Amino acid sequence: MKTGFIDKLISRLGRVRPEEAKAHLLRVVKEKGFLETIFNAIQEGIVVTDPGGRIVYLNDASCEFFGLRGRDSLGQLISEQVRGLDWPALSASADLVSRDMEVFYPAHRFLNFYVVPLLLEDADDSPGGDTDPHQGYVGYAMIVRDLTQTRQATQATIEDERFNALTMLAAGVAHEIGNPLNSLTIHLQLMERRLRKLPPDQRGDLDDSVRVAREEIRRLDFIVSQFLRAIRPGAVDTHPADVNAVLTESVSFLRAEIADRDILVELETAKDLPPLELDRDQMKQAFYNVIRNSFQAMKTGGILRITTALEPDYAAVSFSDTGGGIAPENMGKVFDPYFTTKSSGSGLGLLIVRRIVREHGGEIELRNDTGRGLTVVIRLPHGDRRARMLGYGGSETEV
Ligand SMILES: Nc1ncnc2c1ncn2[C@@H]1O[C@H](COP(=O)(O)OP(=O)(O)OP(=O)(O)O)[C@@H](O)[C@H]1O
Ligand SMILES: [Mg+2]
Repeated sequence: MKTGFIDKLISRLGRVRPEEAKAHLLRVVKEKGFLETIFNAIQEGIVVTDPGGRIVYLNDASCEFFGLRGRDSLGQLISEQVRGLDWPALSASADLVSRDMEVFYPAHRFLNFYVVPLLLEDADDSPGGDTDPHQGYVGYAMIVRDLTQTRQATQATIEDERFNALTMLAAGVAHEIGNPLNSLTIHLQLMERRLRKLPPDQRGDLDDSVRVAREEIRRLDFIVSQFLRAIRPGAVDTHPADVNAVLTESVSFLRAEIADRDILVELETAKDLPPLELDRDQMKQAFYNVIRNSFQAMKTGGILRITTALEPDYAAVSFSDTGGGIAPENMGKVFDPYFTTKSSGSGLGLLIVRRIVREHGGEIELRNDTGRGLTVVIRLPHGDRRARMLGYGGSETEV
């Protein structure tokens, strides 16, 4: 609807007959309803403010992006409704401004938005070119796009590349470590043999030293092979398995650590879960990494609650701790290789978890329970997920 039409209508209001005015008014209302329906159907978020930054209109998508309740936000300052938005700077520019932002509530999203100053149609005609550049503005429109999926797809590709580079590097290092380890073992064996030939009084505690050295080498060898297995899960070797049993085994594996710390582990498993296609060892590794993170977060003790539940397509395994959660600025980084906030962490734990979960066709979700701790949900598919209809617009239809 053109503002010109309304301006003309207002200027002639004294001359139009009541029925005519009614018809025009109805047309205005109908067009408003029509536009609102369209604005609510599109995926982009739209927020319109007055010149002072108070919200005069917002569509459904923008409410969803920013966790706003439509009516309650009308008349409120946009800078107060959308946290982290530098509205004075955005509205100071007379040009179109485009920015990216990351929001964490109500969902973790990457958004791109641009702010367009709204000008009255005849504002350009006003005399005096170099007066206030904002003169004639009736407000601003903010158009918001959700880039989360595009970004995640790009991120997944980058991560895959980084992960491959990491795997190659680790394989190289393991190879380099493996050779001297072998040679050390052989030399220690030689030393042992020569020691045995010496009379006991000349051996001193050399026997013990050699034994300790051999044990340490064995430990190092184990760590290297474990590390390689972890970062190179390879193709998963799945068999029908009871996820509750795998979970229980992972928890009992950590029994000694639970006893050492002031931690209570509550395990509540759903009885109606169907068997899942699992690589037991790898899934145990994934659960173990998540549980260990929770223990490490709960330094002064706390509760780790582990539950399983049946969802339409997935079996959901949730781990909720009381360790304070992840700082918002770190939320986007915890899956990065080597990202750690611990002095002795490798920063590979969650990356490995995600890789294993993805190779099982599953998903991982991290959720901060404000003020309490972190909830990690691992969703693993059940049933025949190959029979899947893609939504309208999908390029393929698997059946
Ligand atoms: N349950 C949790 N509570 C709070 N922060 C967590 C939790 N789980 C993970 N994090 C954060 O995520 C970071 C990355 O975790 P990740 O498991 O990938 O590596 P790490 O635990 O630091 O090292 P590694 O697991 O390799 O020994 C951690 O350093 C920590 O800051
Ligand atoms: Mg970890």
